[in-house]
Amino acid sequence: MRSKVSIIGAGNVGATCAFRIAEKGYADIVLLDIIEGLPQGKALDMLEATPVTESDVKIIGTNDYQETANSDIVVIASGVPRKPGMSRDDLVLTNMKIVQEVTRKVVQYSPNCIIIMVTNPLDAMTQLALHVSKFPRNKVFGQSGILDSARFRTFVAQELGVSVKDVFACVLGGHGDTMVPIIRLCTVAGVPLTELLPKEKIDGLVKRTVKGGGEIVNLLKTGSACYAPAAATAQMVDAVVLDKKEILPCAVYLDREYGIKGVVVGVPVKLGKNGIEQIIELKLTPEESAALKKSAEAVRELVKLMKL
Ligand code: NAI
Ligand code: 2OP
Repeated sequence: MRSKVSIIGAGNVGATCAFRIAEKGYADIVLLDIIEGLPQGKALDMLEATPVTESDVKIIGTNDYQETANSDIVVIASGVPRKPGMSRDDLVLTNMKIVQEVTRKVVQYSPNCIIIMVTNPLDAMTQLALHVSKFPRNKVFGQSGILDSARFRTFVAQELGVSVKDVFACVLGGHGDTMVPIIRLCTVAGVPLTELLPKEKIDGLVKRTVKGGGEIVNLLKTGSACYAPAAATAQMVDAVVLDKKEILPCAVYLDREYGIKGVVVGVPVKLGKNGIEQIIELKLTPEESAALKKSAEAVRELVKLMKL
């Protein structure tokens, strides 16, 4: 039997993610938005692509949560994206109201689902959904590290003229300016990046990665990135639906792991049918550990604003 994946928010990220998942053929999809006609129109358009993509899935668009009932996975991508000059954190109070309401309804109709958060500010919104849903932490987590690592991998591959497949990168921390690329663990076909590029060059690639979302916002003028974020989110859905036990960086509530307690932040986890099946604790240097803790404290400050 196919899984059921609902995506809340039929905007740029939500719709792109729905289309990627539809092509895989393993799940029926419900696309929900508050705007009447938008999810229905996009879902019908995607459905009409299925004969070409040879994917026998059902895709429906709706404004009614009843259609999402008993979803296995719910992706939350509803909310406002940032405009040029804004940080992701500037969205907290606006998107808080949306995510709060959406999470309540999601849980009402799908009490056993796994929630994958996309809405920004990502770590704070994940923590909010965890709080509102009262689900265990293995079932509520967020997409950020796959995207941030993918950006770094792209820039390294471009710089060295190699396949992106050969580049491994590990970006931890919050999805914002305090994110922590662990350069020591970045490799190209197993060779440490530090042996392949001088420090100044690596520093430049790190800086571009940290500002990667902003670079796209500045180019688009309205809206933010959607293709890479949607691909990253679909990779997480794959790992859960197909029980892949894949090690991926995800935003998860930490409870003393990495010496951090009571806040959501990005770290490597094992993703399978139960959601987060293990939090992987890498051995960090004192500098890396301090940077991760600093990033977690920045998320904690943002969470405080929500007065949960
Ligand atoms: P968008 O504006 O294209 O789509 C957002 C959709 O949410 C709109 O269609 C809107 O009608 C809908 N919406 C608003 N309130 C709603 C509600 N109460 N219930 C259901 N739907 C509602 O925005 P986009 O580009 O798709 O981004 C969505 C969110 O994802 C933003 O907060 C953005 O910052 C975030 N984002 C996060 C990324 C990540 O890596 N975690 C990457 C890219 C975007
Ligand atoms: C990004 O990094 C907007 O968070 C999103 O592109």
